[in-house]
Amino acid sequence: MKPALTKIGAQMSNLTGVRAIMKDINETLRANQGQVLYNLSAGNPLILPEVEQLWRDCTADLLSSAEYGEVVCRYGSSQGYAPFIAAIVKDFNQRYGLQLTERNILVTAGSQTIYFYAANAYGGYTEECKLKKIVLPLSPDYTGYGGVSICPESLIAYKPALDVDGVNHRFKYRPDFTQLSITQETGCVIFSRPCNPTGNVLSNEEVEKIAALATPHDVPVFIDSAYAPPFPALNFTEMKPVFGENIIHCISLSKAGLPGERIGVAIGEEKLLQVLECFQTNAGIHSSRYGQAIATRAIESGALANIAETVIRPFYQHKFDVLESTLDAVMPKDLPWFLHRGEGAIFAWLWLQELPISDWEFYQQLKKVGVIVVPGSSFFPGLEENWEHKHQCLRISLTGTDEEISIGMQRLAKIAQEVYHQ
Ligand SMILES: Cc1ncc(COP(=O)(O)O)c(C=O)c1O
Repeated sequence: MKPALTKIGAQMSNLTGVRAIMKDINETLRANQGQVLYNLSAGNPLILPEVEQLWRDCTADLLSSAEYGEVVCRYGSSQGYAPFIAAIVKDFNQRYGLQLTERNILVTAGSQTIYFYAANAYGGYTEECKLKKIVLPLSPDYTGYGGVSICPESLIAYKPALDVDGVNHRFKYRPDFTQLSITQETGCVIFSRPCNPTGNVLSNEEVEKIAALATPHDVPVFIDSAYAPPFPALNFTEMKPVFGENIIHCISLSKAGLPGERIGVAIGEEKLLQVLECFQTNAGIHSSRYGQAIATRAIESGALANIAETVIRPFYQHKFDVLESTLDAVMPKDLPWFLHRGEGAIFAWLWLQELPISDWEFYQQLKKVGVIVVPGSSFFPGLEENWEHKHQCLRISLTGTDEEISIGMQRLAKIAQEVYHQ
């Protein structure tokens, strides 16, 4: 049977962005079984033993409590599980001196769904057929934003300004405020901080400036804090979450060890959250209550924030150090390679300026020597314009072992040398 698909059906059943490449990577892994491959493509966080133990302990506590039946045998409110909401309110109020109430919290099935609800509630066509844009202020950004809107023409991303340290082969993206436009036609703004894929952390001033541009037009700003403190605390540079009237601070428990439980949390103005909550009721009723119940325990005891700072952050920061020092040692000094400053997340981002071949071709060359990274061009959702930089970058995952990262970078340096000197 092959029922006809609607326009939205065809669009949503497409593999977008990095998922299309993941298919190629999975096929490569399958075809090369038995061979040693250095797979530095994964976006899936590793299972760290201390983190797994924390969730095991919280589960044991839940299993032996009277709460268990109520948690798993009953539906709950679409807003989220009340004790979990209370734990988030208390933690954030204490930590950041806020005055949140439980009405400022919405729990979703993973944070990806927050962006899906937001992109379609605030972006797309209004009843008057006016197009409201979803603005990504700094491209590249999370590839998942590419598939969240059922009206893809509403997505618009802005080219960044480049802060380049040529002597040390480093660079950093900055929002280009001479180009960034947030107007009556903007529906919402979304960006990740720390950023997947680049590891960039926008400064507080940059975030406040973006929020201030959005304020006069009543535009909500969704700050995707999937890697931010207090958990998973995957920031390697000092950063403070920014809150404000038009800011929805979005967190995720996925990188804190619970990706399978699908827990995202939107924190912000009640009126903005109610719209998203209705979307959620229609789409999936609510997130897993089991996950929320065990997370309540880990947040209330302080164990989650503690393990994030003492285990999760140092683990990935060390991986970045291995990658950075290997590249410094093996990459030819005369080539125009630039590593993005490693300010957070679980990836490194490498820019090969004036690369004589495309990022996709470079990825294919690397595959031939057993190293798999992700070509960077999938991380520019919403940026339609031709820009050679889009085809000169690679995302390298920090989920490999030290040896995998080190050997992977040595082989990458060799391929770079060959490609530039061909
Ligand atoms: C920046 C960013 N935002 C959101 C997500 C989605 O996370 P979740 O598991 O909370 O849906 C990811 C997942 O990799 C991500 O990297």
